[in-house]
Amino acid sequence: MQQQKISMRGITKVFATDEMETHALRGIDLQIFAGDFVSICGPSGCGKSTLLSLLGLLDMPTEGSYQIEGQEVSGLSLSEAAFIRNEKIGFIFQSFNLIDELTVFDNIALPLRYRRNAVPKAELQERVMACLKTVDMSHRAGHRPNQLSGGQQQRIAIARALVGSPALLLVDEPTGNLDSKNGDAVMDMLSELNSNGTTLCMVTHDPRYADMASRKLHLLDGRILDADGTPLSQQAQQAPLRQVAGH
Ligand SMILES: Nc1ncnc2c1ncn2[C@@H]1O[C@H](COP(=O)(O)OP(=O)(O)O)[C@@H](O)[C@H]1O
Ligand SMILES: [Mg+2]
Repeated sequence: MQQQKISMRGITKVFATDEMETHALRGIDLQIFAGDFVSICGPSGCGKSTLLSLLGLLDMPTEGSYQIEGQEVSGLSLSEAAFIRNEKIGFIFQSFNLIDELTVFDNIALPLRYRRNAVPKAELQERVMACLKTVDMSHRAGHRPNQLSGGQQQRIAIARALVGSPALLLVDEPTGNLDSKNGDAVMDMLSELNSNGTTLCMVTHDPRYADMASRKLHLLDGRILDADGTPLSQQAQQAPLRQVAGH
C-alpha cells in the first residue's frame, strides 16, 4: 500500500483578536500519500497560507488531528514542532528567503546544521553538493545569494528544501517573483523532483501550474471544495482506494 505521509482530520484554525474571530480553516480533511503532487488554489483570503503553515508546523490548529507519517503532531510544543519540522518538512517560498550573509553552500547546509544529531562534515558536504547538482547550480557554491538571478535563487531555495530529505515539500507560490521563463523552469524542476519520488504540496494562483499536479484542491472560505464547487464530504475527501474491505 502507498505510504501515508500526511493525514488531517477536522482541522480548524480560528484567529481571535479583541474585536473579532476569523475562522481561517473550517474543517479540513486531507490525506497526502508518498509521491503525491497536490496543488491548492483559491481566492485571496480563503486560507491557503494558513493551511500551509499548519502543514509545516509553523502554527498549530485550533481543533482537529494532524499526523505526519503516523505521528500525531497537533498538540506539540513549539520546540518539539521545530524539531519535527526540521526533520520532515522542506519549504519553498515565493520570496526565496535565503540569507545574503551566507554563501550558497552554507545556505543549503543550514537545515542540516540545525539537526539535533549533528551530521558528519563529510556527509554534509556530500549532501549539499548533491542537491546543488540536482538544481544544476554546482558552479555557484561559493557565491552569495544576492549575486544570483531570481531564478537561480529559487533553485538554491529548492536545494535547501531538499537537503534534509524531507517527507513533504511545501511550496507557496514558487513562481510569484519570477518572470514566466524562470517560473516555467522552476516548475519543470519541481515536476521532475515529483517524478523522482518527492512528495509535493503547492499553493499557486496560476492554473497552468496547478494543472501540473496529480491532485488539485480548491479552497474557499476555509473549506476544500470538490470539482462542482460544493464542500466535500469527509468520506469523499479521502484519496480513492484507501478503504480496507471488512470495516
Ligand atoms: N495571524 C493572523 N491573525 C488574524 N487573522 C489572520 C491571520 N492570518 C490569517 N488571517 C486571516 O485568515 C484568513 C485566511 O488567510 P490566509 O490563510 O493568509 O489566506 P490566503 O493565503 O488564501 O490568501 C484571512 O481572512 C486572513 O485575514
Ligand atoms: Mg497566502
